[in-house]
Amino acid sequence: MEKKHLKVYNTIYDIRKELALLRSVGKTIGLVPTMGYFHEGHLSLIDVARKNCDIVVVSLFVNPTQFGPNEDLAKYPRDFERDERLAKERGADIIFYPDTREMYPDPFLTYVVTEKLSGVLCGESRPIHFRGVTTVVAKLFNIVQPDIAVFGRKDAQQAIIIKKMVADLNFPVEIIVAPIIREADGLAMSSRNTYLNSKERKQAPIIYRALQKAIEMVQRGELDAESVERSIRQQIETAPLARIEYIEIVNEKNLEPVKTIEPGTFVAVAVWFGKTRLIDNVDLIDLEW
Ligand code: PAF
Repeated sequence: MEKKHLKVYNTIYDIRKELALLRSVGKTIGLVPTMGYFHEGHLSLIDVARKNCDIVVVSLFVNPTQFGPNEDLAKYPRDFERDERLAKERGADIIFYPDTREMYPDPFLTYVVTEKLSGVLCGESRPIHFRGVTTVVAKLFNIVQPDIAVFGRKDAQQAIIIKKMVADLNFPVEIIVAPIIREADGLAMSSRNTYLNSKERKQAPIIYRALQKAIEMVQRGELDAESVERSIRQQIETAPLARIEYIEIVNEKNLEPVKTIEPGTFVAVAVWFGKTRLIDNVDLIDLEW
């Protein structure tokens, strides 16, 4: 569904002016925050936003504050023209594409931190990551003032943290979490998949196969978290190039590890293939997100 006009705004002043106008004639606004380099996962978030509001704003900003000093900020894939075309084809109305100076005036001294939840799972190896995410998302919420915002379930910890931030700080926005979109072989779509060489790419689907096996174990009645975790580890270790960072079975409310699998429990993993860190997660018992 191609829209005739896709407007691109680079400044906070301009996008605010446009959105104030749209709001004044009763339009509801949905935000899809992204760092660009779109794949089908991002585009599916645009679809979800379209179903839930009148105007879809896609923000496209590679946010420096969520990258640690040794992470991939400089080489993070970027292709604005391609992203613009794909967003237009998918029916987005507005792209917000600011530069770093626009988002982070110098000096920038104010951060938003969601305690506890941002220090576990991915937060253990990426200690400033979620502080950067919550800060930029809070800024985007203040700039766009959306009625709804759509995030991908692939970044489950991010979605949980953002929901908590929204509840704690009373942001008037509904958070929708959209399902993970996978390649045909089960690998969760991610902009970082482009970093994998052909051998790594071939082995990476072991992650999803191991998670599927875990679901089957639970369906057969295995509710001991340690046994399920062990099975996932053994499976993933069959891929010679895989290096497991963590496998954790946690409660979706507080991200604390559980002993017994019950509704509200999901498994999250981070696995390295060479220099590429992949994350994935599945519910072990059906959950309402
Ligand atoms: O999920 C992402 O792409 C980013 O973390 C987000 C939410 C756009 C914030 O920079």
